[in-house]
Amino acid sequence: MSHSTHDPVNEPRAGPTLCQHESDGIQEYDNPMPLWWSGLFWVTIIFSVGYAMYFSWGVGPSSQQEYQDELGGFYLEQAQKLGDLQPDRATIDSLMHNDKMLKAARGLFLSNCAVCHAADGGGLTGPNLCDGSYLNIKKLEDFYSVISNGVVPKGMPAWDKRFIPAQRVLLAAYVASLRGTTPAAPRAPQGTEVPPWDAK
Ligand code: HEC
Repeated sequence: MSHSTHDPVNEPRAGPTLCQHESDGIQEYDNPMPLWWSGLFWVTIIFSVGYAMYFSWGVGPSSQQEYQDELGGFYLEQAQKLGDLQPDRATIDSLMHNDKMLKAARGLFLSNCAVCHAADGGGLTGPNLCDGSYLNIKKLEDFYSVISNGVVPKGMPAWDKRFIPAQRVLLAAYVASLRGTTPAAPRAPQGTEVPPWDAK
């Protein structure tokens, strides 16, 4: 006689279909993921491609660069509390001895200048800024005009649209202060040796 008792295991089910394959009499139901679930799965995959492009392949700013920009902005705010910075010898010279201001400038340098001049100023596509020989600089005040106007045909951008004058004065002092430091991989000196800043 057929069993009249309720057999929940072997009773055919409505709903999901049985898969074709079986192994030792074991079969499985085809239970597709709900559409919302697999949709979400694809969305995360597509998102990860954009994310990788933005953050890993240099399309967007790195978190280090964002941090440096922010740090530079913070120190600049502090700096602006001290008033306008004039692009003259006395101001640049005093900034060169002000650690807090040089720190502010370092943030700007790392996020804007290091790509060409190296983080320690040793030079990459741009010249070495540590060696005391310069192509466009004869005296301390020249840093401000070179940074502001650039040497565009030679690949040094002009920064007068990008930075306010106080920032360019800060950068001038920072770059001047690099002189005499020892970069890890210095480019050979270019241009002419210039008398030390404190001469005359
Ligand atoms: C895209 C590359 C690039 C970037 C970015 C760049 N520079 Fe330059 N820089 C150069 C090149 C190339 C020269 C050499 C120009 C020449 O041959 O006269 C130069 C020259 C200079 C000089 C004059 C050096 C000399 O020997 O006369 C100073 C100072 C300077 N850069 C500062 C900066 C500062 C500060 C920044 C960031 C705000 C910066 N540079 C960003 C490429 C760059």
